[in-house]
Amino acid sequence: AAYEIGEHESFMHAEMLDQPRAAERVLRGRLDERFGTSHLGGLNLDARELRAIRRVKILGCGSAYYVGQMGASMIEELARIPADAEAASEFRYRDPVIEPDTLYVAVSQSGETIDTLLAVQEIRRKGGRVVGLVNVVGSAIARECDGGIYLHAGPEVAVASTKALTTMFLAFSLLALQLGRVRDLSIADGKRLIAGLQRLPEQIQSVLDRDGELEEVAQRLAEADSLFFIGRVRGFPVAREGAQKFKEITYRHAEAYQTSELKHGPLALISEAVPTVALVPDDELVERNVAALHEIAARRGPLVVVTHEGVDLGDLSAAPGTHRIDVPRNEREIDPILLTIPLQVLAYHAAKHLGLDADKPRNLAKSVTVE
Ligand code: G6P
Repeated sequence: AAYEIGEHESFMHAEMLDQPRAAERVLRGRLDERFGTSHLGGLNLDARELRAIRRVKILGCGSAYYVGQMGASMIEELARIPADAEAASEFRYRDPVIEPDTLYVAVSQSGETIDTLLAVQEIRRKGGRVVGLVNVVGSAIARECDGGIYLHAGPEVAVASTKALTTMFLAFSLLALQLGRVRDLSIADGKRLIAGLQRLPEQIQSVLDRDGELEEVAQRLAEADSLFFIGRVRGFPVAREGAQKFKEITYRHAEAYQTSELKHGPLALISEAVPTVALVPDDELVERNVAALHEIAARRGPLVVVTHEGVDLGDLSAAPGTHRIDVPRNEREIDPILLTIPLQVLAYHAAKHLGLDADKPRNLAKSVTVE
């Protein structure tokens, strides 16, 4: 069936607003509430094979790469398996060592991105096992993988990925849950995460509902020529994704940094003219993150703080250049996706304010299928 924008102003807008439904679709039929785990028949891996995995290596490009980093930290946290993500576009050029007890995961909305496809072929040629997190059914990457998880995000047309990215994150949650439960993750923890995943669609909706407030902040950010997006550990890939989205549709210079690395470079650039969007979830790093915000405020850098209700920003709250955006709390492992949603909305409204077509950023393609 043809995909229509309907009453929406653009595909990106329609796709952003479809995220609560997309989240329900990727989870549907896959949660096992009784045993606190997930059902992922398409993976083609039994419990013994899942237990034999010693390492997870995730490959993707663009947003799929950043969400891969989010997925890697979740897998490492829940399953205690070393995991990392790498840009698929670099992978095959370094003659990578392929290990039999590593699970390779290729992530792609289109399933046609040439760099990701060639990474999959490189792994298989060297005898590795690859599963795909893919949206488009029957696409090249889906066909080349040994198994996988379909995302069921529905068609995504806008170049800037929104709902596909959200379903990728959730597919990683399902995978992490299963890898965790065949190891040491307790049934209680499994159930805790499942309850968190079930709350998520409604929580995503509540962030999307704050469109007016986010639009105002976006209009201010759009005036800057250059911005920083900062976060650490679970928040860093969120910052990378946020900066990517902002730069690709507004053409502003947006750079992501680990909050911990601020003092090793970017602090030199902070001024009234350079706003920082800071991810400050209520986690074990909250106090350190707030301390870093003070460093920025002391140099009169405007701040947009994406955080949780109740996080104490001290005297920063009163500073005229500070705007705070509270997102709902979920479980710590799941929080990154909720922190990502307002960053999409900010980028979207900033582009709109600048009179730019968010659906078709210059020089970019929805999927890059030739080398
Ligand atoms: C292109 C798009 C990005 C996308 C990336 C990966 O660069 O502009 O928005 O994240 O490809 O696409 P895929 O279809 O593999 O997820």
